[in-house]
Amino acid sequence: MKKLIVVLAGLVVFVWGVFLFMNRQPQLPKQADQLPIEEPVDREDEVADDENKSPLPIPPILEDTDPSPDRAEFHIIAQNGTMEFVPGVQTDTMGYNGEYLGPVIRTRRGEEVAVNVENRIDGEMTTIHWHGLEVSGEDDGGPHSGIQPGETWTPEFTIDQPAATLWYHPHPEGNTGRQVYKGLAGLFIVEDEISDSLNIPKEYGVNDIPLVIQDKRFREDGSFEYILAGPDIMFGLQGNAILVNGETDPYLNVEKGLMRFRILNGSNASIFDLRLDNGKSFYQIATDGGFLEEPVELRSLILGPSERAEILVDFSDYEDGERVTLAHQDFSFMDFVVDGSSTNDYSLPTSLAPIEWLRPEDATLTREFVFLGMGPNVNINGKQFDMDRIDEFVSLGDTEIWVVSNQSGMGMMGGTIHPFHAHGTQFQILDRDGNPPPANEAGWKDSFVVYPDETVRAIARFKQPGVFMYHCHILEHEDAGMMGQFLVE
Ligand code: C2O
Ligand code: CU
Ligand code: CU
Repeated sequence: MKKLIVVLAGLVVFVWGVFLFMNRQPQLPKQADQLPIEEPVDREDEVADDENKSPLPIPPILEDTDPSPDRAEFHIIAQNGTMEFVPGVQTDTMGYNGEYLGPVIRTRRGEEVAVNVENRIDGEMTTIHWHGLEVSGEDDGGPHSGIQPGETWTPEFTIDQPAATLWYHPHPEGNTGRQVYKGLAGLFIVEDEISDSLNIPKEYGVNDIPLVIQDKRFREDGSFEYILAGPDIMFGLQGNAILVNGETDPYLNVEKGLMRFRILNGSNASIFDLRLDNGKSFYQIATDGGFLEEPVELRSLILGPSERAEILVDFSDYEDGERVTLAHQDFSFMDFVVDGSSTNDYSLPTSLAPIEWLRPEDATLTREFVFLGMGPNVNINGKQFDMDRIDEFVSLGDTEIWVVSNQSGMGMMGGTIHPFHAHGTQFQILDRDGNPPPANEAGWKDSFVVYPDETVRAIARFKQPGVFMYHCHILEHEDAGMMGQFLVE
């Protein structure tokens, strides 16, 4: 009897999944009407008051407790919290040094860094992974570096990569999606001589603003919980509201001039197509791993889960008090309010930073990674994650070409997007289906979206030793086993 129920339940889930798949719109990324609870407000009717809006919270910069200039020491506590995303409704969350999300860790190239990470989460193991940082496997914070409740883990490493906006988040086997969704994530900023010398906004919290964008699925009462239904197992958990730095529908007063935004798509699964509601353009100046060679003008910025972009938006031609909205397609989720009393006269640089381009002829090996399967069967090259199995062996210092293709859900309508990410290095995208990548992907990338049926070729040099992960950054797919391990030695 029990068996029959299990079989029936399995069948129902499977049929439901197929049904959802067939009905899914093939247009990508996800349509805005799948996201909002409320209809986007009609800007005409809206009086310019902030009654229902809250100022954008700016995560604090974490204090460096080491007085010497070329060493830094940081203290992080992973803990349980509660938040009131909707007034009067408490939601259980997790945060680093607070109730939700974490402070910004700011470092410099060449600096020796120690981070004390204490796990105070009730009865739950965690790890802390430095996403995009080039450090050894031992310090990388993957699933092998579990921190038990009450324990502290202290990785130490030297920062040796260009200025970039990286991030940190937990990576425990099978539980990453839930811990990130509950709120464990923060930015990790690297600065260097080039970022110092560029004439771009760099006053943190004033004209250099972090935007951690994440969607949540609020229940009717305004709380959220990490419960996966059939579609979430298929496509990853997608929300009905978009939060920025943990705030719903925030506004930010901006200087009349050039503003810099460091954007992280910190969502579990959603891909964003970011635009200004007035259709004006902005400039991308950095990718995941550092500055582009020159600014790239965009009207739409597509960011998959875990991808970052730094952008410059020029507000100098706006009226004092004018509002501009940041939207995912047509769905507005934050306002910029131009404050004419504060101005700046930065100008858009013509060039940003030189990039050392890796040459395909220097690659010693080409490896293939194929995203396959659906729902609970998602895998890479036919294998699901096994902590005790190393899938790929890389020689330390070698340059390799990684060919990542997405054949999951093929034969079904549409298929599904998978963002590829590997630890411990930064890639350069050689081509997408044989075509050069778009200009705003011509830089260092540690994560890149692979569309259904697409093949992306990327090149990287493996300078850090140890065991590292590669995986789909839809966290529900990662947790389901769409992940493998490579050993660099
Ligand atoms: Cu953002 Cu394996 O991680
Ligand atoms: Cu990572
Ligand atoms: Cu995936």
